[in-house]
Amino acid sequence: MPAKLINGKVIAERIREDVKKQVSDRLAKGLIAPGLATVIVGNNPASKVYVRMKHKACEEAGILSVGHELSSDTPQEDVEALIKELNNDPKIHGILVQLPLPAGLDEEAVLSTISLKKDVDGFHPINIGRLAQKGRTPLFVPATPSGVMVLLEKSGTLIDGANAVVLGRSNIVGMPVSLLLVDANATVTICHSHTKDIPKIIRQADILIAAVGIPEYVRGDWIKPGATVIDVGVNRVEDETSKRGYRLVGDVNFEEVSAVAGAITPVPGGVGPMTIAMLLSNTLKAARLAGS
Ligand code: GUN
Repeated sequence: MPAKLINGKVIAERIREDVKKQVSDRLAKGLIAPGLATVIVGNNPASKVYVRMKHKACEEAGILSVGHELSSDTPQEDVEALIKELNNDPKIHGILVQLPLPAGLDEEAVLSTISLKKDVDGFHPINIGRLAQKGRTPLFVPATPSGVMVLLEKSGTLIDGANAVVLGRSNIVGMPVSLLLVDANATVTICHSHTKDIPKIIRQADILIAAVGIPEYVRGDWIKPGATVIDVGVNRVEDETSKRGYRLVGDVNFEEVSAVAGAITPVPGGVGPMTIAMLLSNTLKAARLAGS
């Protein structure tokens, strides 16, 4: 039987509608709209596309969003000075510095400058550190990993006691999603570029999270029958039959894997929409934390 499709677009839409309703309830009570500031340093075209989508989603939810674009040669002190200004701006509840930063900037120092209460991306070292420790609760959890967890829950996947394999160990997805899975009582194996015999490890997985950025890397015969597969990859591959000249594929060979898995996310329409929905939800939470 082919895998059940986990429709991230529909699940994300419900979260966005819920945020929108709560924002309008705030306004009706005389509270100000939640405010998100985004910061892009440099000219990464993908970053610009992602940030544009975030602003559009904010607008649709009634969240104020203010974009800051700095040139790639902006000195460290100037990036940090902008963040300090945003930390002190009462209209701004959340600050998102789009990653990656240009080479030469100290990413950890930049992220550490963001006020903990405005760290809607959850990348401040203290928030990530709390995520990594038992009995500690971060104020914010990074958007893509928390979106992955929501998709697992909504698909009815049993996480407690499951064998979960995470492909990729990035700061943005692989590592934080591994921590969230451990926190949900899964047994987690992280695979990366130095891992030996990745197919053998994936065959043990009840849950597979693919976040390596290699188009259609995971093959159907690596999958344990009935496993839940969450594909975080968004890769462009040439396609002359498409108007744009390319199509988007995930890190998973969808045709092969969906014939074996129990449930799977599509690309596009799986994890991508969840990232934005969770960011909106975190921004609303930040406004509540500010008490304004
Ligand atoms: N770059 C890729 N994904 C993300 C994200 O979720 N947040 C930020 N800040 N940068 C990213």
